[in-house]
Amino acid sequence: MFSLEPHAVNIAGLALLLVLIIIGYVYRILRDPVSRIPGPWFTRWTDMVATYHMATGPHSSYIHSLHEKYAVPFSLKSAGPVVRVSPSEVSFSDMSAVKEIYTVKETYVKSEFYTRLTAPTNKNVFAVTNIDLHRRYRRLLSAAMSETSLKSMYPAIEANVNLAIQRIGEELQTRGAADVFKWWLFLATDIIGELSFGESFRMLEKKQKNQYIEDLESAGFVAAMRALFPTAMWVAKFLPLPWLRYASESTERTRLSAEESIRRHERLEQADPTNVKPTLFSKMYKAEEDEQLTFNEVVDNAVGYIIAGSDTSATTLTYLVWCVCKHPEVKAALLRELATLPADGGYGDQELKQLPYLNAVIEETLRIHGAAPASLPRVVPRGGASLAGYWLNEGTTVSSQAYTLHRNPMTFPEPEKFDPSRWLAPTKAMKDAFFAFGGGSRICVGMHLSLMNIRLAVSKFFRRFPNVEISTLEGMSDEDMEPHMTFLYGPKGRRCLVEAH
Ligand code: HEM
Repeated sequence: MFSLEPHAVNIAGLALLLVLIIIGYVYRILRDPVSRIPGPWFTRWTDMVATYHMATGPHSSYIHSLHEKYAVPFSLKSAGPVVRVSPSEVSFSDMSAVKEIYTVKETYVKSEFYTRLTAPTNKNVFAVTNIDLHRRYRRLLSAAMSETSLKSMYPAIEANVNLAIQRIGEELQTRGAADVFKWWLFLATDIIGELSFGESFRMLEKKQKNQYIEDLESAGFVAAMRALFPTAMWVAKFLPLPWLRYASESTERTRLSAEESIRRHERLEQADPTNVKPTLFSKMYKAEEDEQLTFNEVVDNAVGYIIAGSDTSATTLTYLVWCVCKHPEVKAALLRELATLPADGGYGDQELKQLPYLNAVIEETLRIHGAAPASLPRVVPRGGASLAGYWLNEGTTVSSQAYTLHRNPMTFPEPEKFDPSRWLAPTKAMKDAFFAFGGGSRICVGMHLSLMNIRLAVSKFFRRFPNVEISTLEGMSDEDMEPHMTFLYGPKGRRCLVEAH
């Protein structure tokens, strides 16, 4: 009689197990409502393509291309409202879904992506997914970031802006061109240092890029690496992969630097408690003293501010200068408006907020070149939810991205055109779709600070250098300004050289 050898039985058993696993996987995927959402076939089975685009750069434009391709009412050429990004993630550009996901009630919490985006042990206001912890941190940080509180910090911001403008002038003299990206990054870094820790990082004084700045410049890449390869980051030190090791070491260096800044502030406070200026972290420091917060939590939040607050403001200012220089009619209109300010520089943020064209130029820059235009993933709450007419199970990741919301031609006609005048009489749809700072309870806590900084820097820069133009020195070209998009957005060349004669 025919009989099977024991090893043949084992192989047949394994094969059967494999087939059952595959059937189970296919069944699970096909039963999930996500599989019925429009999207490329491979996104039903894998997130590898989205992951690849996040790692290599053009993530936001890739997601946008899915919206354009897969859910478009072609006659309108409008980005489609719902698209599948992976077996567990759906992206929305439908405004009713955006409003539902990004509410102040925080029904849809941040996804685990954020825990991976920052260092593994890092618990800060940006990354925490736990609602109570987030509220606790946010309460301690938001009062100092209100427009009213920031008024007392205006002189410090202005002093730093003045120094940045002076440095740009000096570099124009000595080099024939000035790298505004570098100076704006030094400016944003020094402001965060001074306002958070009572002492600037003094980059505008030192005038040279150092390791600290290089770490900041690579923060977007490092965060993307961490989010995509969390396990590998733990063992990065032992792997022969220099880029992974760099990402891991850079994280440690930024943390150390935040720690040093906080200790320095503590020493200053102990030396002379009567002479301590209020900082953005005053309430955090107090909570630590009262043992309501650990030292590590303060450091974690400081790291969050350093990373979230420097590159973002520098990128916005850089693209603003570039776009204005590339559009002479915009520059002329901006200069005309800035000329209405007192010639002796006797104006402040109140006056700048009243200038419609200046603020329109800033909004238009944030619309096209927002520094954080990528998907902001959230999780469908318990019980599941219906969004834009699609039912989704609890635990599904849902997201929206400014990159797509800001390019809807129904809301922003000719969306790729840099046209600040569109903001002089914005429609409700435009205001609703503006997502450069995110939305709901997790909206950018540094929004007022960055806008104050940008308004002041732009006004002083164009008043001081009205003839400024983009330089071609040292091979500078539009290619340098092509965007690199991981979670953050910035110029590929990491420079923007300008000339002023
Ligand atoms: C033009 C400059 C800036 C842009 C475009 C920007 C953009 C954003 C966006 C889109 C978010 C939402 C992220 C999400 O929901 O996942 C965010 C959150 C955040 N931003 Fe900004 N940001 C800027 C400047 C700043 C500055 C100057 C600081 C701090 C000093 C800062 C600190 C933060 C923090 C801490 C969060 C997390 C808030 C929370 O989850 O409660 N940002 N930012």
